Amino acid sequence: MSIDQRPIILTGDRPTGQLHLGHFVGSLRSRVGLQDSHHQHILLADAQALTDNADNFEKVRRNIIEVATDYLAVGIDPSKTTICVQSHLPALNELTMLYLNFVTVSRLERNPTIKSEIQMRGFERDIPAGFLCYPVAQAADITAFKASVVPVGEDQIPMIEQTNEVVRRINRQIGRDILPECKALLSSTGRLPGFDGKAKMSKSLGNTIVLNATDKEIKKAVNAMYTDPNHLRVEDPGQVEGNIVFAYLDAFDPNKEEVEELKAHYRRGGLGDGTVKKRLEAVLKKLIEPIRDRRNELAKDPDYIIDVLKAGTEKCQIITQNTLNEVKAGLGMFKF
Ligand code: TRP
Repeated sequence: MSIDQRPIILTGDRPTGQLHLGHFVGSLRSRVGLQDSHHQHILLADAQALTDNADNFEKVRRNIIEVATDYLAVGIDPSKTTICVQSHLPALNELTMLYLNFVTVSRLERNPTIKSEIQMRGFERDIPAGFLCYPVAQAADITAFKASVVPVGEDQIPMIEQTNEVVRRINRQIGRDILPECKALLSSTGRLPGFDGKAKMSKSLGNTIVLNATDKEIKKAVNAMYTDPNHLRVEDPGQVEGNIVFAYLDAFDPNKEEVEELKAHYRRGGLGDGTVKKRLEAVLKKLIEPIRDRRNELAKDPDYIIDVLKAGTEKCQIITQNTLNEVKAGLGMFKF
């Protein structure tokens, strides 16, 4: 058997809701492309999801299957990509406990993503310890797989930096480079705004388009899209920047040249919002239809999804346990 030389990827999602078009441009699309050139693992980060959903185990449990179904529906192929459930990889917890000894509380409090999430979630006075420490658990995730490439959104860059700090501390303590440093792989398309023009797409804001949206839902979302509020008459010149319809065309329309022509026309004046929206509606319908069909098909056989997750998780149990053993031995822990 030849040794697999492909770079190792670990990526993951918190299973807190069905995935949507923001995930599609931000990560799913590139994962489908990366699964041939890389040795790719995807973590359903249910344990991490609980760090700010401790009162909602039911939601997190239910969404494991939903998100896994989304993965398969967009074309992530379980024969190429290993999909696993984080809470079933106990080695990750052991690594986390070891790593916590190499990280200070003040460093965690300075992590920019943690800082803004504390604010967003109103945790100022009562930060759950599990939440504050999740960057260390994420370092355990990444290093347990010895991943060198981590495809994530920009908000995750501080996690990668903190992971590399842990890697250097552990390697220095051991005296050998057991753990590889990793780098973030950012999606070429920036963050997709919600269809209401809000910077963030989120289920709680109700401004997402899910991957199995019906044609009717797609139409409704596109019609509600924020355009240029000063573009009152068709003949008026319009603004493309900040115009959500164009942001979506940029992200999804395969014909870039025609999109550029449309933008020029819109700026000049003479192109109505309705025409641009019609085009976007058609583009999104074409994109979503096969995903929705496949998703509906997969949803008929939940046992298949469970089998995929079980097989993937078993593989990952071995990988992560091997790394844990290596780290423990390297650090010189007691052994019977
Ligand atoms: N923090 C990531 C998110 O919120 C999810 C995640 C957990 C992850 N573990 C990971 C991402 C390891 C990349 C690598 O989306």
